[in-house]
Amino acid sequence: MTVPLIVGNWKMNTFREEAMALARACAQASESVGQSVNVGVCPPFPWLVPVKEAIGDSPLQLGAQDCAAAEKGAFTGDVAASMLANLCSFTLVGHSERRTHHSETDEDTRQKTEQAIKAGLNVILCVGETEQERSRGDAESVVRRQISAGLRSVGDHDVTRITIAYEPVWAIGTGIAATEGDASNMATVIRRDLEVRFAASHGSIRILYGGSANDKNAATFLAASNVDGLLVGSASLLAEPFTAMVHAAT
Ligand code: PGA
Repeated sequence: MTVPLIVGNWKMNTFREEAMALARACAQASESVGQSVNVGVCPPFPWLVPVKEAIGDSPLQLGAQDCAAAEKGAFTGDVAASMLANLCSFTLVGHSERRTHHSETDEDTRQKTEQAIKAGLNVILCVGETEQERSRGDAESVVRRQISAGLRSVGDHDVTRITIAYEPVWAIGTGIAATEGDASNMATVIRRDLEVRFAASHGSIRILYGGSANDKNAATFLAASNVDGLLVGSASLLAEPFTAMVHAAT
């Protein structure tokens, strides 16, 4: 059986001391559920080092919010996957805020995924359609295209490093979550594609739902078929709701 995964994406939030306190609370939440739930957090880059120290040898997994598409060199402001691999066990790739505000393309997500895997990181590949794409009836084709492109360089032996987060763009940060049906329908489409691409090994890939997930709706999404966990933005910035979501996954 798949172990559920709950990940908090702090985005560009938290001051240093807040981040430390939140990290310690998340570490506690992770310890309290033991092996039954995997828990991760993605703090802003400057907090990765102090957060790693604050959580010590807790099972809480540390992740980056992004990594560079190139291996090294003249890329001002970017952070290479190999630099992150000393601190983190995983990185997000292709979050809709990167695609929207930084014009990231499918090809960028492919390169980032490739770099991350090469550096030994696990990858959470984020995919999801905009409201316009959904109303045009293109939601499935957009998500399938993003997955196919993002995973193009992933071979069978790297499948265990991959997680997919289905995050409809219209649900992110809006307070309007998808329905359980929307989430499980798309997760089923994604699962079918993974099955075709990776045959038997697709089973190790977890599919998360993200987009206004919170402590009130977590249990519903976690019960949805083919949904193996949650990628949480704003509700991960407070220890109490995030801990409740971790416990909802047990
Ligand atoms: P949200 O963000 O939970 O605040 O909607 C989710 C995400 O961007 O991963």
